[in-house]
Amino acid sequence: MTAAQRVNVWVRKVPSWAVYILGAMIPVWYFWLAVSGQMGVEPINALERALGLLAMQTLVVVLAVTPLRRWTGISLVSHRRALGLLAFFYVCCHLAVWLLLDVQDPGRAWADIVKRPYITIGMAGFVLLLPLAATSNDRALRKLGPVRWRRVHTLTYVICVLGAVHYVMVQKVWEIEPLVYLALVLALVATRLPRLRRRAAA
Ligand code: HEM
Repeated sequence: MTAAQRVNVWVRKVPSWAVYILGAMIPVWYFWLAVSGQMGVEPINALERALGLLAMQTLVVVLAVTPLRRWTGISLVSHRRALGLLAFFYVCCHLAVWLLLDVQDPGRAWADIVKRPYITIGMAGFVLLLPLAATSNDRALRKLGPVRWRRVHTLTYVICVLGAVHYVMVQKVWEIEPLVYLALVLALVATRLPRLRRRAAA
């Protein structure tokens, strides 16, 4: 048995519910760190940023599932849905902290969404995640059929690019970490382009 096959046996042994529960506990843990004074002098901003970064990292993992399987033989496919739904949950938490704890004013929130390009782009990412989250279940897959379902889920690539651009723009100066995420996302999207083009042509 190869090392990749051994990893796959181990991955398949992890039940989906455990991924959901462990994944859902991370924002709870962040929240506790913030309320117990362990997130610095600006806990709301630190919490908002920690959740944004968690969402970005999870989206990158989702995007990497297929290339990882192709290049290393390691398959996280059995947990792709859970990872995608967790990414959506993290973006919801990130948005909720911004709206309910940071801005705290629907009028100002709307003004930020339309006037601040980095918020507009983050919001576009959130809105595009909604159809993905709504169709991440077996019923939707049966109803749409595999071809249409896959077409809807192509939005993942757009969402990851929007998330990474949002991350680059959030920083007031050029920083290396967001640019690394953007480069990673673009590289992962580029690996999928030939297949996407073939599918579009078909
Ligand atoms: C796909 C969706 C999104 C992703 C992946 C994402 C990701 C991120 C990341 C990685 C950061 C920076 C974290 C850090 O500096 O370590 C961030 C910051 C931020 N995001 Fe998002 N975000 C998304 C959607 C949104 C939405 C919908 C909003 C609000 C409408 C939003 C508002 C903010 C704000 C206010 C900050 C912090 C800015 C500051 O500190 O001044 N994001 N986000």
